[in-house]
Amino acid sequence: MSALLTVRGLDVALKTKQGARPLVSGVDFSLERGGAMGILGESGSGKSVTCRALMGLLGEGFAVSGRAEFQGRELLSLPPKAMRALCGREIAMIMQHPLTSFDPLCPVGDQMAETFRFHLGTGRQAALEIARDALAAMRIQDPGHILTLYPHQLSGGMLQRVMIGLTLALQPALIIADEPTTALDSVTQFEIMKELVRIRESGRTSLIFISHDLGAMRMLVDTALVMHQGRQVEYGPADAVFNTPQSDHARYLIETRNALTSRFLAYAGRRAGLDRERGCCRVAG
Ligand SMILES: Nc1ncnc2c1ncn2[C@@H]1O[C@H](COP(=O)(O)OP(=O)(O)O)[C@@H](O)[C@H]1O
Ligand SMILES: [Mg+2]
Repeated sequence: MSALLTVRGLDVALKTKQGARPLVSGVDFSLERGGAMGILGESGSGKSVTCRALMGLLGEGFAVSGRAEFQGRELLSLPPKAMRALCGREIAMIMQHPLTSFDPLCPVGDQMAETFRFHLGTGRQAALEIARDALAAMRIQDPGHILTLYPHQLSGGMLQRVMIGLTLALQPALIIADEPTTALDSVTQFEIMKELVRIRESGRTSLIFISHDLGAMRMLVDTALVMHQGRQVEYGPADAVFNTPQSDHARYLIETRNALTSRFLAYAGRRAGLDRERGCCRVAG
């Protein structure tokens, strides 16, 4: 396998009147073609800033330095127009809050068609057909009707599926999924995870997956990178990082999450036992 994306010494700072405030420093990784890397770290550790920097999504207020070679091209020095053409088509991002990715004043079908026209150069009718096929591929019922709806008329889970459908139809080489299930209920989380596993199994698209959910991460990734206060504290094969973390912080993060999960399971088990003793029965909802 060859590297799809190689990042070396990525630093991001916020420009302030008092000078540059570092947000992320010294991120180094290499993502293989068809590989999947997880980024783990507490809230505010720099996961989103890292990915947004790679996609050129940070504005003028940020200073980005380092190297990021994607398919032989240096991403960090690409002119904005070339970056816009690349993003979406070859690198796509699935965000935590799908609603913010859509224009509230425009039906989702028109937005999808516009994206296909821009990136694939098709006419409007062909673009609408691709949009319908994209939703059908996500196993969305009645895609023709869904395309006519405005973003606020769709649930968060449905919008996220639309977003993933749109992303997949463009057949990008890399998908960056930034906490794609955090804002969703657990049943929908499961559905979205199934789609991500399908992407993974297709082997066509590489994945960077950001999540607080260690279980989900274990299911998807082969490499893991752990961040703490803007720094990369651990990076390596996922099994090694999850089972024998070397840095204090990665160990702390993984042990805390494991302990939380087992305490939750123990609590849920005790609760179920108590309910049985009291003769309570839960109505499945
Ligand atoms: N638009 C912004 N302006 C100023 N600071 C920001 C901005 N976005 C993120 N930050 C700061 O950068 C740091 C990393 O944030 P982020 O990458 O969003 O964390 P997370 O790991 O939760 O995704 C945090 O200290 C955050 O406050
Ligand atoms: Mg984030």
